[in-house]
Amino acid sequence: MKLSADQLLKELTLEEKAGLCSGKDFWTTKAVTRLGLESWMMTDGPHGLRKQIAGEGVGLLDSVPSTCFPSGVGLASTWNRSLIEEVGQALGKESKANQVGVILGPAVNIKRSPLCGRNFEYLSEDPFLAGEMAKHHIRGVQSQGVGASLKHFAVNNQEKLRMTIDAIVDERTLREIYLPAFETAVKGAQPWTVMSSYNRINGVYASENKWLLTQILRQEWGHTGLVVTDWGACNDRVEGIKAGEDFEMPGNGGITDAEILKAVKSGKLALDDLDRAVGRVLKVSLRVLENLDTNAAYDQEAHHVLARRVATESMVLLKNDGGHLPLAGGRVAFIGAFAREPRYQGGGSSHIVPTKLDDAVEQARALPGTEITYAPGYLIHDEAADNTLIAEAVVVAGAAQQAVVFIGLTDPLESEGFDRKHLGIPSGHLALLEAVLKVQKNVVVVLSNGSPVEMPWLDRVPAVLEGYLGGQGWGAAVVNLLFGKANPSGKLAESFPHRLEDTACFLNFPGDGKRVEYREGIFVGYRHHDAARIAPLFPFGHGLSYTEFSYGALTMERLAVSENQPVTATVAVTNSGKVSGAEVVQLYITDLVASVLRPVRELKGFAKVFLAPGETQTVEFTLESRAFAFWSVDEGRWVVETGDFEVAVGSSSRDLRSSAFIKVTSAQAPKRNFDANTTLGSLVDHPVGSIVVQAVLGQFSKAFGNYEPGSATALMMENMMNEMPLRNLVRMSNGRFPPLFLTVLLGVLNGLEPLAALERFIPKRG
Ligand code: BGC
Repeated sequence: MKLSADQLLKELTLEEKAGLCSGKDFWTTKAVTRLGLESWMMTDGPHGLRKQIAGEGVGLLDSVPSTCFPSGVGLASTWNRSLIEEVGQALGKESKANQVGVILGPAVNIKRSPLCGRNFEYLSEDPFLAGEMAKHHIRGVQSQGVGASLKHFAVNNQEKLRMTIDAIVDERTLREIYLPAFETAVKGAQPWTVMSSYNRINGVYASENKWLLTQILRQEWGHTGLVVTDWGACNDRVEGIKAGEDFEMPGNGGITDAEILKAVKSGKLALDDLDRAVGRVLKVSLRVLENLDTNAAYDQEAHHVLARRVATESMVLLKNDGGHLPLAGGRVAFIGAFAREPRYQGGGSSHIVPTKLDDAVEQARALPGTEITYAPGYLIHDEAADNTLIAEAVVVAGAAQQAVVFIGLTDPLESEGFDRKHLGIPSGHLALLEAVLKVQKNVVVVLSNGSPVEMPWLDRVPAVLEGYLGGQGWGAAVVNLLFGKANPSGKLAESFPHRLEDTACFLNFPGDGKRVEYREGIFVGYRHHDAARIAPLFPFGHGLSYTEFSYGALTMERLAVSENQPVTATVAVTNSGKVSGAEVVQLYITDLVASVLRPVRELKGFAKVFLAPGETQTVEFTLESRAFAFWSVDEGRWVVETGDFEVAVGSSSRDLRSSAFIKVTSAQAPKRNFDANTTLGSLVDHPVGSIVVQAVLGQFSKAFGNYEPGSATALMMENMMNEMPLRNLVRMSNGRFPPLFLTVLLGVLNGLEPLAALERFIPKRG
């Protein structure tokens, strides 16, 4: 008879319980054979299954073949929720066919700097987009009876010293930028596991951070699954269990089992805390074991076709002057070794051994009416220019009608484990492009990279396709897009800056060796560019199509709503061009007047619509309170301030086509605490306070005499009054306002009846 998690917990010895809090080895959990509990496997990674082949001397790169989908940056650039859900389903199927119970991903850390070595795995600089895509990824995986692991929780935004760095981030920034993608995914998809990150957050390791793992993740968001450490992220195992870190990976040969035992025996760790962690390990284990199926299989060919489809939707047409693309055929030179050996994935724990790999040259040669010539132009593993290869490429490019130049980032420039040092591409790639441009004007650049690069050559190239790291279908997807067999529909999930200096954290990345301070606060990516009025090279949300889309007027269901009332915004979008295509309709919200500094606009909705030429579709967005809210540090909650908001829809964050206004009324009056240091000016909108302000101003203007309106002295007096703390009413009024007046006033301002306020300060008799 199979035992339930509760029954198992009752039967386990203390030693067995301690043992169940960490893995057996690198990838599997421990079994308790006498109770029928079996061991099971979890393994990487976000865009494909990396199940390492067992055996001596097996390395990171030796894994069973599986479908390599575009890496996170590409998945997010599709802005297609149902497509990423399909990818999730495929990942779930492949895991199941390989007897893997949990697949480690998606990775939703925010792209704070384009230098982060792991940006290619992450989804976006925007928490709304990252959260929505992660939610659907997880739903897809888990629909197959396989668990996902939402990672890396939280604030793991750089590789430099990722195992020890202390990220210093204020709470509003955490709540608005670094946590919401996790929040959306947890609330909307209930991942079986969440992986805590390596780093510290405001002094405390994520793996022993009770505020993060218990208060926020479980109590506020309702996570019911397991929390597992990133591989090697455990600092103090006992503190971790107390904080809500249930499971440690990889296994460590019993070292932390002994620590746990000792702590329970000495009373340092309560048995209840241990039982809580073990209970969660058991629940997820039973769920995994019930779902394992030794007969499961998947259709490799169908998954390859899906990988191509996703790659096609993930690529972003950055520039297309004069409708240069699509190419009509004829003699086209493919220049650059990436055309034959694409860089289709990044390095590290997400590395996949693909089941197949499309070659762009082969794919293009199969097209009728096209003659494809090819020259490598550079050595894949060498960043420096190779003059012989460049000379050969120049001849090939010059003899063709068009040249497509394949350049980007090489493996050593971008990987898990280290950050990039600059936004440049290899000098050999640059030299090749410059040489080709001397003999050929019709140049299309196709990029292979996992995060933004500088483009000093952009003005001299009519068309640029951002191919990202598109997985095993990269070659076919590029060819289909170049020759118009498919219409580009990807949009940037990140901003491309002109220069590194234009990124908000430029001066504070990657920190001083111990700490990294997130001094830019909430102003990450487009939030920074918009607020600081910096023109990006390509804005967040940008991506061109071979067709045109026109937008109708944006209409709001109501012009005024209460915060608790969801409201819909509707816009009609028409394909006004000649070919079928897809548009990602993006919705941004601006708080027109706010008491705190807010971004100029923030993404709060998006929808991808597929339209035939001439076809119109009405797109509807439902906006809830959170779409208008900011995190109030004073009140410790999401606050919507009564006032006007602008809602805008468009084709990118800098290409807004239609907008409308709405007045939102706050459902909860702001909680304000008044004390002796409250300023007079902040009382003008308070029913009682405003009367006091008037009275005081009257008194003071008499005392100080009249100054010429608009003169410096008058302005100074006015500001002094506004900014005067209430305590100075007593100190600077020469006895007009006695101390008792201030005490009563504060009582009334804080909500007491005048008499009650007065009584509080009258000594009780008897
Ligand atoms: C990475 C995780 C990965 C784990 C297991 C860690 O170094 O940060 O993303 O899932 O290794 O390979």
